[in-house]
Amino acid sequence: MTDGFVDVPAEKGKTKTCPSIAVYPGTFDPITNGHIDIVKRAFSLFDKVIVVVAMHPGKKALFDVKERLQMIRDCFPPDENRVEVEEVRGLLVDFAHQKKASIIRGLRAVSDFEYEFQLALMNRKLQRDVETVFLMTGFRWIFISSSIIKDAARHGGDISGLVPKHVQRKLAEKFSTS
Ligand code: COA
Repeated sequence: MTDGFVDVPAEKGKTKTCPSIAVYPGTFDPITNGHIDIVKRAFSLFDKVIVVVAMHPGKKALFDVKERLQMIRDCFPPDENRVEVEEVRGLLVDFAHQKKASIIRGLRAVSDFEYEFQLALMNRKLQRDVETVFLMTGFRWIFISSSIIKDAARHGGDISGLVPKHVQRKLAEKFSTS
């Protein structure tokens, strides 16, 4: 019987035949330097990273999906063929399974762990062949989140150095018209 929680034995002597792919999901409303740090760290483990804008049921986004995808694409040079950016509307694990990819998530503090653990186990239950890999966020970014940056920007706070310049401009535009 396979209930999704059976131990999977390591495949001994497995030869690598195709590029290793990571899917990095999030709401990215907007992308921050902390997220970019995770993508760069993933390059040491994976050949390609697909940054995926996915839906979190409880979040009301400031930027629409098209704006978020564009802001993410603008973070990586067009010739950086190790990064792809996509939107996923259905189950994330189904997308990862289809791409033969692992899921990566960043951890900033112990407080992230409980939620991430739950998400990873639910994803494993749904697709047992998709592994989740956790990467530690760079020390400089452990205190930031998209919400805290939006909040600071909304009130005119200086967010330079925490998000790329083009994201900073988009936030300024958003809050000057609202
Ligand atoms: N640097 C800076 N901030 C970071 C960060 C890092 N390295 N890592 C996480 N964060 C912040 C994010 O900015 C975000 O901040 P916010 O809450 O202020 O927006 C927060 O930590 C965590 O958000 P995120 O990584 O975007 O995840 P999420 O919890 O919003 O999204 C999904 C979860 C979208 C990945 C999940 O809901 C999903 O997979 N949805 C697809 C549908 C699906 O498959 N559902 C079943 C799931 S079992």
